[in-house]
Order: sequence, then structure tokens, then C-alpha cells
Amino acid sequence: MRSAVIGVGNIGTLHASILSRCGLLCAVCDTDEKKLGVYKDLPVYTDYKKMIDEQKPDSVHICTPHYLHAEMTVYALNRGVNVLCEKPLCISYDQLESVLEAEKRSSAALGVCLQNRYNRETVFVKKYLEGRKTDFATGVVAWHRTAEYYASGEWRGKWATEGGGVLINQALHTLDLLGYLCGTPSYVCSTLGNLSLRGVIEVEDTATVATDRFTLFATNSALTDMPVEISIRTGRDLIKMMPGTVLVNGEAQDIGEEKFIPLGKECYGSGHGALIADFYDRLGKGEKFPIDGAEGASSVRMILAAYKSGGEKVKL
Ligand SMILES: NC(=O)c1ccc[n+]([C@@H]2O[C@H](COP(=O)([O-])OP(=O)(O)OC[C@H]3O[C@@H](n4cnc5c(N)ncnc54)[C@H](O)[C@@H]3O)[C@@H](O)[C@H]2O)c1
Repeated sequence: MRSAVIGVGNIGTLHASILSRCGLLCAVCDTDEKKLGVYKDLPVYTDYKKMIDEQKPDSVHICTPHYLHAEMTVYALNRGVNVLCEKPLCISYDQLESVLEAEKRSSAALGVCLQNRYNRETVFVKKYLEGRKTDFATGVVAWHRTAEYYASGEWRGKWATEGGGVLINQALHTLDLLGYLCGTPSYVCSTLGNLSLRGVIEVEDTATVATDRFTLFATNSALTDMPVEISIRTGRDLIKMMPGTVLVNGEAQDIGEEKFIPLGKECYGSGHGALIADFYDRLGKGEKFPIDGAEGASSVRMILAAYKSGGEKVKL
């Protein structure tokens, strides 16, 4: 296997480091040449198409700003190159259609980096819920993102390039987990606001998303990063999930030891290692990777509906 990374910013560096440790990294691409200096021993590119055409890698990891995910995914899949795409899979309905069509036509696999599905607490709760019906759930994301954070990338905080704010970026993982654990809702009704970044970003910093299965409260205007919390009511049981912890009716559950070292920022969790290992393990065995285009599309559909909603129910 030979793998290349497109976009070596915050998260692309982490992908490149995991691939390099496994001896898989064959090339990297970034339009910012300053970011390429550390990859002295590898072929480096500023044009991702050139890199794919010349290097013909088995896989590419797409770690670029949101608006580029779809075109890069389609380009690679059309050339039979496997894709592991960072979240979100894309930022519009048109992009979604083009990505899913490319996946259908391609001999290569598409995986989406929703690494929190590999967290110990998620694996435990998913199993616990087997054969149980979830009545309702809530998710709370209260994080702290400043004007400096938004200034750190030209693409951040803009509809055209980030595709939204807290919902499509920070809270996407929690929305994905709510859908993964409790089932995809049939409608979404949402309100969006801006509590602390008005005039700084054009997108929302705060959102409430109500559905017929769960409600998500998300904000980037908290004074510090709080742990993400998911609560699930199933019959008489109340399950509470937080990073590294699951409580059932107040009692801590044995969710096993952490097998993967957390890499990068704390909010990334430790799932990247587990997800990337599973992606390559399955490619090697010719098995389907579970978080494919359809799975990656699920949170994108909920978010696009939430952006349309304006306080009205939007069918999914
Ligand atoms: N799964 C997670 O937990 C997680 C965590 C952080 C970021 N992400 C996702 O990863 C992606 C990147 O986020 P980031 O924080 O690393 O952003 P970033 O701005 O730090 O990095 C993006 C990189 O892409 C490069 N780039 C831009 N246009 C390019 C092009 N046309 N070709 C090649 N390179 C190009 C930029 O120069 C930059 O180095 C986003 O989709 C983000 O949502 C996911």
C-alpha cells in the first residue's frame, strides 16, 4: 500500500504521521509550500491532481478545507484511488450527489473520517443498545472558539468554504453519533444564532437541532471546551456518555482500556488511529469499510436540512 495526504494542516499532519509510522506514506500535497518543508524525504506537491497522476497512490487522505472535499474525492475515485476523506464529506446537496455517484462508479473505496464511532464509549453503548429501542436522546457540545481561531484559516467561518459553523465543523461528530446510536430521524427543525462571534464569522456559532429521535445543543461560545455529553433514554435506562466514561442509571460501566494513544488536540480524541487501522485492514482483506459514502452523507443531510430549517421542520 502507498498512501498520500492532501492538505497537511492541523489534521493532515496527524494523518501523515500515522501513515509514516506504518510505512505507508508515499507523498504529500499542500498549496502552502511552507507546510511541505518537513517532508524532505518524500515527493511533495502543490497540485493534488499532479500528485495523484504521477504517484498513482493506492489511497489518498483528504484533509483540506470543507469546500474542497467533494472535488478531490471525485477526482481520486474516478482514477481508482481509495479515499479516506476528513469530515464533513461535503457541504452541499450537489456535491453530495457527485460524491455518491463517483463512489458507485468507482472500483475504489470511500471512507469518511468519523473517528468518534471508534471511541470505547461509543463501541460500548452501540452494543448495549442492541435489541433495545431508544426513546429519546440529547447531545451537548459546548466549546470555545475565538476570533483568533477563525482567523487561523482563510476558509473558516464562511458559508462558501466552511459550509457553516459549529454544526458542520465542531458538532458534526456528535450529530453523527446521535444518528448512529439512535437512528436517522425523519425530520430536522433547527434555530441558528451567533452569541459571541457576531461580525467575526458569517456562519452560526450556536445551534439547536430538534428531531423526532434526539435534540442537539451546540455552541462555540462557551468560555472553555467542555466534555461532549450524550444522554440516551431507553426504557427505564438512562445512559450517559462522556469521553472515556459511560454511566447507566448513574453506575460507571467497564468500557475497557484505551488502546490507541490520543494524537493531536484533545478534541480529536483517540479514534483516528483506530479508524485508519480499520480502513487499511479492510482494504487489505477486500472487505467493505463501514463508514462509507452513505454513512458520511447521513450527518451532512441532517446539517444541510438544519441550515434550511429556519425554525420549520424539514423532512429528511
Ligand atoms: N476528524 C476530526 O476530528 C477533525 C479534526 C480537525 C479537523 N478536521 C477536518 O480536517 C479538515 C482540515 O482541517 P484543519 O483543521 O487541518 O485545517 P487547516 O487549515 O489546518 O489545514 C488545511 C490544509 O489544507 C491546505 N490546502 C488548502 N487548499 C488546498 C489545495 N487545493 N490542495 C492542497 N492543500 C490545500 C491548506 O494549506 C492547509 O494546510 C477539515 O475538513 C476539518 O473539518 C477533522
